[in-house]
Amino acid sequence: MKAETKITGTGHYVPPKVITNFDLEKIIETSDEWIRQRAGIKERRFADSGVGTSDLGYQAALKAIEDAQIDKADIDFIIAATLSPDHYFPGIGVMIQERLGLATIGALDVRNQCSGFIYALSIADQYIRAKTYKKILLVASEVQSHNLDFSDEGRDLAVLFGDGAGAVILEPNSTHEDNRGILSTHLFADGRHISDLWMEKPSPNDKPVFPEDFLDQKGYFPRMNGKTVFKNASEKMPQAVREALETNQLTIDDVDHLIPHQANDRISLMVARNLRIPVEKVIRNIDRYGNTTAASIPIALDEALKQGRIKNNDIVVLTAFGSGFTWASAVIRW
Ligand code: UT7
Repeated sequence: MKAETKITGTGHYVPPKVITNFDLEKIIETSDEWIRQRAGIKERRFADSGVGTSDLGYQAALKAIEDAQIDKADIDFIIAATLSPDHYFPGIGVMIQERLGLATIGALDVRNQCSGFIYALSIADQYIRAKTYKKILLVASEVQSHNLDFSDEGRDLAVLFGDGAGAVILEPNSTHEDNRGILSTHLFADGRHISDLWMEKPSPNDKPVFPEDFLDQKGYFPRMNGKTVFKNASEKMPQAVREALETNQLTIDDVDHLIPHQANDRISLMVARNLRIPVEKVIRNIDRYGNTTAASIPIALDEALKQGRIKNNDIVVLTAFGSGFTWASAVIRW
């Protein structure tokens, strides 16, 4: 397909506090060996108390703005993707807008969890294709560590998740001849799996939404049916990639870099094997950050760019899977 939207700047920010598997061993019934074998994670970042998702997102946004060499006053729309907003409402889009001093441009929050970045990228691409906006700031940010269950019940997710943020600036492709930019995006969902990966509370059964025994119920912690998530993630991401390649009449050999959502390194390796793509083409950084949900793809993208791994005209394929279930893919000619 024709590329109309380019990513002209990227940035990421992770909080400075490094939490190794050995640190987790002190507070959870777990082991470094279990976490490395099951998920390929060695360490992750945890935000300090008082530091919220909008704070990390703001820092990542500043870096993307600097990288794009634009005046922030020229940004005409903000999209923010997160599953861990600072507040139940409003979302973090308006909070980042306020920090950047960008009133009164629109600020949209996307709540598609691990697929949030690609869903948001798709929205941004449509707005730019429609010529509605010319400089969109997309921020994906998560602080998971403030709401993890460090008891046996929640240790599967407590060892997986980390905090971090990534941001990109999107602008129209002014030189259409090169066909560089977002070629296509593909979004999927299956709401039959809502409770396989969710935070149940608050729920419609609760009136008031926050009853007095809210804390005792522990329903406000994320819960996961790990095996079902693992199986579906390993199948659906390759399917989404195949559909994206077919749409653009590309083959797997045309792909220079695959950036899967960093859910679990074993899932990334299974996706690579399923697609028969050489593992050297798969960008993986979960060993250092854990699963940062919506933020994992833009963090990996920014790192790969800054390391010089991604070059002009490279075909970059993104894919994600997560809570909902939702899953997605995108093809970008860099
Ligand atoms: O971002 C998208 C969302 N998340 C994902 O994509 C994650 C998908 N799922 C997974 O990655 C895997 O299911 C996990 C890594 C979370 C778990 O791996 P698993 O191979 O599915 O393990 P399991 O849940 O079947 O648990 C195996 C054992 C259990 O003990 P028993 O019943 O065999 O005695 C668990 O209680 O491992 C135990 N266990 C742990 N042990 C040490 C579960 N969590 C831990 C832990 N440390 N943190």
